Amino acid sequence: MSAATITPSGAGAQQRGRAGPGLQPGWGVSSERQRAIAEVLGCLVPPAGRLAPVQLRAVTAGLAARRDLWADLVVRDPDVRWYLPLHRSNSCDVWLLAWERGQDTDWHDHGGSSGSFAVAEGCLVEQYRAPGGRRIARRRLLALGAVAFGPAHVHDVAHGGGGSATSIHAYSPPLVTMTCYSTTGCGLIARETVAVVGPEGARGRGGADTALADASASAARLTPGSLPADAPSIDQLLAEARSGLTRLRPEAAFAMLTDGAVLVDIRPLEQRIAEGEVPGAVIIGRNVLEWRLDPRSEARIPALARADAQIIVMCAEGYASTLAAATLRRLGLRGAADLDGGFQAWKAAGLPTRPAQPPG
Ligand SMILES: [Fe+2]
Repeated sequence: MSAATITPSGAGAQQRGRAGPGLQPGWGVSSERQRAIAEVLGCLVPPAGRLAPVQLRAVTAGLAARRDLWADLVVRDPDVRWYLPLHRSNSCDVWLLAWERGQDTDWHDHGGSSGSFAVAEGCLVEQYRAPGGRRIARRRLLALGAVAFGPAHVHDVAHGGGGSATSIHAYSPPLVTMTCYSTTGCGLIARETVAVVGPEGARGRGGADTALADASASAARLTPGSLPADAPSIDQLLAEARSGLTRLRPEAAFAMLTDGAVLVDIRPLEQRIAEGEVPGAVIIGRNVLEWRLDPRSEARIPALARADAQIIVMCAEGYASTLAAATLRRLGLRGAADLDGGFQAWKAAGLPTRPAQPPG
């Protein structure tokens, strides 16, 4: 994902460090603009509690019609969807988004928050999972059109063609996490839950001076004081596991399979459905792996749970498989190795794959 270097020049752009109502220092727009927005929202947004979708719709539709509160802040970025936080309280957060041709969100939910968005300029198209089924519905929204939805809503929003688009989005409670989905032959499959890095999914770039734009840098500076001094980080654990492990590139792993090695796929079902499978791989969930392969376990698979078994553990990208293979070696399976790069590297190497076998 690329991000154009565009400097917002709007009169409302915030000076870092100034606090306004609702937003923390470093968040979005100036304190004066925050107060003006808060005045508009005053009768619509309670200071705490959960807003119903119809209330959120009043927020987004109301702000979409008030160009004087946001029009000078919008940044048009041809490379990536742009956003800026306009308001945040304990009950909801409100965002300004700018869309260019070809930009979309990918499929996502809102981590249990209800939400609404209103088109302020241009056109957006929303695809969404119809309630109670696998059917995908579609609606096209023109300027001042608005939709609202409950916490189970899953959708993909895209620029609807024509010129630039602008929209106002609101969520209650404020966004914290969202789950990303993949479209598969079995319908939409939840892929993973991620911390919110901006409204409407990860395909976006925060405006300058937004706290979310700086979140990664802040996280890198954190030193959790409550951890034991000798507690390793996940990076250290990974490096330690790899120091005593054989890692196989896909071509080498493929050659070993013909000599009797076994490829063990530890990815969850939804990931196999979304990405595909390797024909002949043994599927053992990560949560039961040690019990199936420890030769002393009552739940073992006898043909595989042997000290001399040539086990090659595969995950999606070759990280979880390292930790799993290292644990198998500790259990005494001296030949346990992992697939460097995981299923993605296997597929990229042109080795055999097939669509996942759907359940039932
Ligand atoms: Fe969304």
